[in-house]
Amino acid sequence: MLNSDSMYNPEHLLMLAEQARKNAYCKYSGFAVGTALLTESGVIYTGCNIENSSYPVGICAERVAFGKALSDGHRKFKAIAIAGAPEQEKKTVFCPPCGMCRQFMSEFCEDDFEIILSDKIYQMKDLLPVRFEL
Ligand code: THU
Repeated sequence: MLNSDSMYNPEHLLMLAEQARKNAYCKYSGFAVGTALLTESGVIYTGCNIENSSYPVGICAERVAFGKALSDGHRKFKAIAIAGAPEQEKKTVFCPPCGMCRQFMSEFCEDDFEIILSDKIYQMKDLLPVRFEL
């Protein structure tokens, strides 16, 4: 967890996601993902993917960052940066969130929640336009 007293800075979030990617535990897929999640109150949580020998038990980097923030009591979020690439590569590639993570994030995010990828900044409403809600 980092305290961010600076303004919302997408490039800074992407840099933190790239750093967090170094902690990925991805021995089965070899694909390392890092995330940096900014809460509405300005706190930043990072995450990485954590795989498991029982493959479905593994968790994506997005849900790790959200889990850390949610378990500290945060419920409102501004943006997440996602950086992914094969583990040995230094330069990251376009890495959009999987469908399960889109639904997971949707529970806690407004339509204008920002998803910072390598090419541009998307909004929740772009990546999950018709949402399931109970
Ligand atoms: N993965 C993520 O962590 N986030 C994504 O947005 C896409 C996929 C992980 C899951 C798995 O550990 C690896 O990348 C390959 O699918």
